[in-house]
Amino acid sequence: MKHPSQKRAFPPNFFFSIPLFLIFAPLAGIFFWAEINSSAAEPLKYNYIKHSFDEIPMKKEATPQAVIFIGPPGSGKGTQAEKLKGYRHISTGDLLREEIKKGSKIGLSCKEIIDKGEMVPDSLISDLIESHFSPHILLDGYPRTLNQARWLDEKVKISQVFSFEVNVDKLVERLTNRRVCPSCKGVYNLVSKPPIKPFTCDQCATPLIQRADDVETVIRNRMRVYQEETAPVIEFYRQKGLLTNLDASQTPDTIADLIHKKIFPSY
Ligand code: AP5
Ligand code: MG
Repeated sequence: MKHPSQKRAFPPNFFFSIPLFLIFAPLAGIFFWAEINSSAAEPLKYNYIKHSFDEIPMKKEATPQAVIFIGPPGSGKGTQAEKLKGYRHISTGDLLREEIKKGSKIGLSCKEIIDKGEMVPDSLISDLIESHFSPHILLDGYPRTLNQARWLDEKVKISQVFSFEVNVDKLVERLTNRRVCPSCKGVYNLVSKPPIKPFTCDQCATPLIQRADDVETVIRNRMRVYQEETAPVIEFYRQKGLLTNLDASQTPDTIADLIHKKIFPSY
């Protein structure tokens, strides 16, 4: 049996809780409304500015989201890839050169092909590229054939394809003056973007080199291969409604702005 004072305690506490509820319920409502609104506006800004998308662990079944840069040799794909934050940059050219440097089986099979400016067989590239997939990828120089484009369609969700367009004379001038850092992959140009200290990488102080395929005869062969094999890939994506044509003879910052506005329209 309860003590009489316990019985009396219930009604006053209950009535006391009603005004408390009336005060705190609207405050809680305002708090949750503000939270929901701020998180609705945040994700893109958060990912783009503070973090790399690569930091988000990828679920096994998740399909990577891809942005693609297609363009002839020297059109500025690598230069723009360095500027676009938030995507894992996958350059098939860089991956293959890395294999050559390591002296791996793939590297040994493709060195001569690359030095001549020919296309490396698809079978050597697909496994290599897939091992670098992550939730948000930027593909620079892939796909270059219709076969590669069809293979990629099965593996990723493509959100944007940028086609870089520059006239041939400008491309030859850019490539013969290009110097690259073999260590951090920084891209320079003796005319338009010279390093601060001659022949030395601004970022890591490694001596710059000229790529073996940046001599005029090979450059012209790479352009021929591009016209024959890669031009149909541009049409493939145009028909899918994914293509944005870029005048890549503008300044690097102007081009970066155009790309950024297309990928992140709200920022
Ligand atoms: P890869 O390394 O991809 O060469 P590429 O496609 O020929 O393109 P580049 O890297 O030469 O030029 P870029 O467009 O990146 O220009 P960049 O920004 O450096 O491939 C090499 C080889 O690997 C291929 O030939 C093939 O053998 C093989 N390969 C690769 N992928 C393959 C695939 N999928 N299938 C089969 N084989 C494959 O700029 C160039 C210069 O211009 C720089 O000096 C830069 O500073 C300057 N520059 C850039 N933008 C501007 C600007 N807006 N204004 C003025 N100067 C600029
Ligand atoms: Mg490149």
